[in-house]
Amino acid sequence: MALIDLVLLKARLGELAGRFDVDALESCDSTSSELMRRAEAGAPAGTVIVADRQEAGRGRRGRSWLSSPESSLTFSVLWRFNAPLARLGGLSLAVGVALARALEAQGARGVGLKWPNDVLLATAAGDAKLAGVLVELVGDRRGCQAVIGIGLNLSRPAVELPQPVAGLDQAGVLGADRHSLLAAILRELADVLDRFAYAGFSALRPEWQQRHVWQERPVQVLGEGEAPLVGSCLGADDDGALLLATAAGVQRIYSGDVSLRPEGSTLGVRPAGTTLG
Ligand code: ATP
Ligand code: BTN
Repeated sequence: MALIDLVLLKARLGELAGRFDVDALESCDSTSSELMRRAEAGAPAGTVIVADRQEAGRGRRGRSWLSSPESSLTFSVLWRFNAPLARLGGLSLAVGVALARALEAQGARGVGLKWPNDVLLATAAGDAKLAGVLVELVGDRRGCQAVIGIGLNLSRPAVELPQPVAGLDQAGVLGADRHSLLAAILRELADVLDRFAYAGFSALRPEWQQRHVWQERPVQVLGEGEAPLVGSCLGADDDGALLLATAAGVQRIYSGDVSLRPEGSTLGVRPAGTTLG
């Protein structure tokens, strides 16, 4: 039986239960792949798939997302927007705001956001990745639909990863109740996605900036086959683009196909498509 009990989750969601249609699986390839298939078959907005185990969990740019039933929360949410794809820049940042709010409401301390899709935790050893957001968009006749995948470490993954990683227990949330946690995240997501649909990322930008981990810190933007772009990180603009103060002036970076790192760091930098064994 799956770790998530739908009756209990519904109770935790309270009046919001009607906005979500949740399916809990013991196992699937990837909750985002499964939800994409269901979306193509006509699943309604608000469909959620949560799985204990993913056989092929995905991060951005074909990377792997590693999880285990005991120490992770992995799920995907389908949302529809009456707006063209071009208007949805900043959606992964908005989702980060919802995650940070929900984790803080559970008592987590030291949660921060990194452009474009990471939730980091400030630890004694530096910033470490606590959660990742994968947004996949598909245009349709009425606008577009987004499959929003979220992977959250409840405790630190036991495997070696190229970058520092953290678990929610390190943020002071011990033995998190998955039902309360998932309900809290879905509640914040409903609020954030409604606001995003109405006013775009600009409505959430102040909250994102407030939690931005590397504000005014020297960083490098690494794109494949390109020289690193170095500058001071100014956060995100109203469209969700990264703002970088360089010697040539402030540059806007729209492409998510880059990696943002502290200046001089070579951690976790490798070609896209590389998977972890
Ligand atoms: P960037 O996109 O800036 O290069 P990133 O290295 O975090 O940042 P993403 O593609 O955003 O890369 O996230 C996927 C990466 O997350 C994987 O390459 C892997 O190193 C890492 N990862 C995989 N599983 C986990 C996990 N459970 N917790 C934290 N990090 C993980
Ligand atoms: C990233 O940091 O690159 C994003 C990681 C997103 C992982 C989640 S886990 C649930 C959903 N299913 C997937 O295969 N990926 C996302």
